[in-house]
Amino acid sequence: MNPILDKLGRPIRDLRISVTDRCNFRCTYCMPKEIFGDDYVFLPKNELLSFEEMERFAKLFASLGVKKLRLTGGEPLMRRELPDLIAKLTKIEGIEDIGLTTNGVLLGQYAQPLYDAGLRRLNMSLDAMDPELFGKMNGRGIKPELILKNIDRARDIGFTIKMNMVVQKGVNESEILPMAAYFKERGITLRFIEFMDVGNDNGWSFEKVVTKKEIYEMLHAEYEMEPAEEDYYGEVAKRYRYLDNGAEVGFITSVSESFCSTCTRARLSSDGKLYTCLFASDGFDLRELIRSGMSDEELLDAITGVWERRADRYSDERTEQTVKNRKKIDMSYIGG
Ligand code: GTP
Ligand code: 5AD
Ligand code: SF4
Ligand code: SF4
Repeated sequence: MNPILDKLGRPIRDLRISVTDRCNFRCTYCMPKEIFGDDYVFLPKNELLSFEEMERFAKLFASLGVKKLRLTGGEPLMRRELPDLIAKLTKIEGIEDIGLTTNGVLLGQYAQPLYDAGLRRLNMSLDAMDPELFGKMNGRGIKPELILKNIDRARDIGFTIKMNMVVQKGVNESEILPMAAYFKERGITLRFIEFMDVGNDNGWSFEKVVTKKEIYEMLHAEYEMEPAEEDYYGEVAKRYRYLDNGAEVGFITSVSESFCSTCTRARLSSDGKLYTCLFASDGFDLRELIRSGMSDEELLDAITGVWERRADRYSDERTEQTVKNRKKIDMSYIGG
């Protein structure tokens, strides 16, 4: 089958599946407590895709050229049987890589079952090494020690791990160098993520972004670095190698250097909507189609149609106006 291309000539290569909209954290930049409080209504169970439905979609997307799957949330480990899903996905023909994005809190319990099911890659987040600041940022008072312990455990089991740190001006800039030093020494790639205007309630403004350039300069004052080659076509992070020990560090620059021209990512929300951009306001309801008894061919036609109509390049076009005037989906719903 010929690869399908969107309106800007981009193929479909990656599928990010959000398996739940729930999370055990309340990160201030993603699920602020004031909005995601005790009375917040999450999706009821019957509205979430079942693992069988996710597996069927993953197979269909693989037949259209998807090589890489990423499971996200909310916090994906809130779906307790997640290793069962991994076991199904690892068997799909054409899928070369499966990753899980997690806050790491539940990994003490799940790392081994996930590995046994065939998962090899984890992207974990940590926004600060300082206990008080991290507790405040995650909105649940969770201490960094727990995450650091789970990182060590997952490494011992054999996982390849990357770390994500969202940097916000006036909040956690002071953590950039301590975080860099800690993960450099352990040979774990830390990616600094520019704070993004996802969702509608995280108080984003251009002034709160710490750019790659600023962070790079802080690191460069301490360490010598050289650019590292791309790991895969259209890699989200720009990575650099420290000359002294070969460890790597990366930057995810959605705000200061957008990367839409090589964006090959489709996103499936936990209730089965297909989104062609992280900043889209509407998704295409695939759950309705799958539950109406459509055949594989009919579903493939629908997915192909959505991709061929795709012209998204939000980060390329971001201005004060789009930030204010666009209604966007929440990060916890679409999974980043
Ligand atoms: P690998 O490169 O496979 O390790 O995964 P990844 O870095 O794409 O996945 P991860 O879930 O760790 O995402 C890291 C950050 O990149 C998150 O903040 C995502 O929201 C952001 N990100 C991932 N894909 C895109 C994208 O297409 N557009 C934008 N703007 N941000 C993205
Ligand atoms: N800007 C940048 N990154 C974000 N993430 C969540 N919300 C935002 C935001 N507003 C990150 C998480 C996690 C990854 C999936 O997305 O910290 O590392
Ligand atoms: Fe934080 Fe990720 Fe949970 Fe959002 S989904 S609140 S970023 S841990
Ligand atoms: Fe892709 Fe949209 Fe991100 Fe651009 S802003 S890289 S089109 S998901």
